[in-house]
Amino acid sequence: MSGVNEIRSMFLDYFRKNGHEIVPSSPLVPRNDPTLMFTNAGMVQFKNVFTGLEQRPYSTAATAQKCVRAGGKHNDLDNVGYTARHHTFFEMLGNFSFGDYFKERAIELAWNLITKEYGLDAKRLLVTVYHTDDEAFGLWKKIAGLSDDRIIRIPTSDNFWAMGDTGPCGPCSEIFYDHGEQIWGGPPGSAEEDGDRFIEIWNLVFMQYEQVTKEERIDLPRPSIDTGMGLERVAAVLQGQHDNYDIDLFRALIAASEEATGVKAEGDRRASHRVIADHLRSSAFLIADGVLPSNEGRGYVLRRIMRRAMRHAQLLGAQEPLMWKLLPALVGQMGRAYPELARAEALISETLKLEETRFRKTLERGLNLLSEASADLSEGDQFNGETAFKLYDTYGFPLDLTQDALRAKGITVDTDAFSAAMERQKAEARANWAGSGEAATETIWFELKEKHGTTEFLGYDTEAAEGVIQAIVRDGAVVESAAKGETVQVILNQTPFYGESGGQMGDTGVIATDTGKLTVTDTQKRGEGLFVHYCVVAEGSVKTGEAGREIIELLIAEPFALGDERRLA
Ligand code: ALA
Repeated sequence: MSGVNEIRSMFLDYFRKNGHEIVPSSPLVPRNDPTLMFTNAGMVQFKNVFTGLEQRPYSTAATAQKCVRAGGKHNDLDNVGYTARHHTFFEMLGNFSFGDYFKERAIELAWNLITKEYGLDAKRLLVTVYHTDDEAFGLWKKIAGLSDDRIIRIPTSDNFWAMGDTGPCGPCSEIFYDHGEQIWGGPPGSAEEDGDRFIEIWNLVFMQYEQVTKEERIDLPRPSIDTGMGLERVAAVLQGQHDNYDIDLFRALIAASEEATGVKAEGDRRASHRVIADHLRSSAFLIADGVLPSNEGRGYVLRRIMRRAMRHAQLLGAQEPLMWKLLPALVGQMGRAYPELARAEALISETLKLEETRFRKTLERGLNLLSEASADLSEGDQFNGETAFKLYDTYGFPLDLTQDALRAKGITVDTDAFSAAMERQKAEARANWAGSGEAATETIWFELKEKHGTTEFLGYDTEAAEGVIQAIVRDGAVVESAAKGETVQVILNQTPFYGESGGQMGDTGVIATDTGKLTVTDTQKRGEGLFVHYCVVAEGSVKTGEAGREIIELLIAEPFALGDERRLA
């Protein structure tokens, strides 16, 4: 029986032998796609290679990519812990062709790996194709010798893969494993397809198009291949398990959690151990990639994940912070494949400990309030949204934590009232701020932060990245665009430019867009978490990006003296 580490290595070795470049996993914060919260698939780091914007010295590649799906298009957070296959963090094994091979070779490579190298029983495998894709249908027949009834045509979006609302996309073909008739469920496309018997293990996407806007889809320069196999799923199959949480890696993490709490992962307690094991992975990897818990954006998603795990630690009766104690087990399992995890161990440990120490202080009081306020409710009732907001505001309970805590009793939360309370509080804060005597321009930064959230700082691991221009400020007022020669301040959704604070100088450099170029003379932190780029428009003009479409490129140049005309040229 192969462990997760061997299965990953076998995958990469196989594609190396077959001429693919083995590329390391990219960070969980996508530096080339400011519209995406977290890297959610192997193809994300190659997005611009598919569309032809970027050239690489190789035309085929393979990766084991760390992924987080905890918000946005692929949101799994609520289910995690209660099902056999939902994760916030998972690894995607993938091979890619950038205009090199297409359907035939992709199918051949996939089939040979799973049946020959991994040795899966071909009789247990079946595939789907997009309903109009006769070519893929014929190739599966020819290469794998599958009978017609085991090549299922699917007419829905299940067999058309897209990274998000925009980006490369195309019809896909999925490989399913039949876990056997002792488990309820039917093949894809059947009335029982939601059962657990037939499990998708590998998705082969025939990348042919780029969704430019919601309405416009164009052809990619060359037909390409993007595949994704869930490592945890294929490991379950290879280890004779039906449940991902029963693979060697999760067993080790759950064993560490059982040991630290003295509570077995059985009965009601099983879900809590699973939540903790899963959330430990996403939290640790996110922190290693520079995300820290906060009240905004990516940091808030991380905080929600951490606190959800920490409540489950409390449910298991942990008297002290638990998560950091499990970190060595995780580093032991995954630190060799992902050295960044081992390198950041001290930071991750500190961050987990601090967050859990802080959160524990209010957790108990908040849970008491929650149980008092829900004492009279029964299954099907709604929990008061105002109280849910109080739990959020005073006790640091993210909304989904409150929802999760009430889930066992079948109680939902009045989310409209929650949102209304949140809006009211923001309006009050704004009014107080305006009255606090701060300069008018400071109010602008505060309002911009309210509107767009804090700026994601990418500078810990990159000096060049893409972002969206969220706002341009000229003479203390927000403007839509700026032209050559104008002095402006620019807010981006994410940036590698370090903002001056605590005595360290702000970064300088260049921001290039399709239509113009900005020279960044300074970067400052403003309005609690906003990075303000002080710029001069050096070429053309720049405008505020609509819905993240205006992707820009940031390049940090050597520091230079203000007014140095040669650099502006
Ligand atoms: N990008 C494809 C997926 O995530 C392979 O399923």
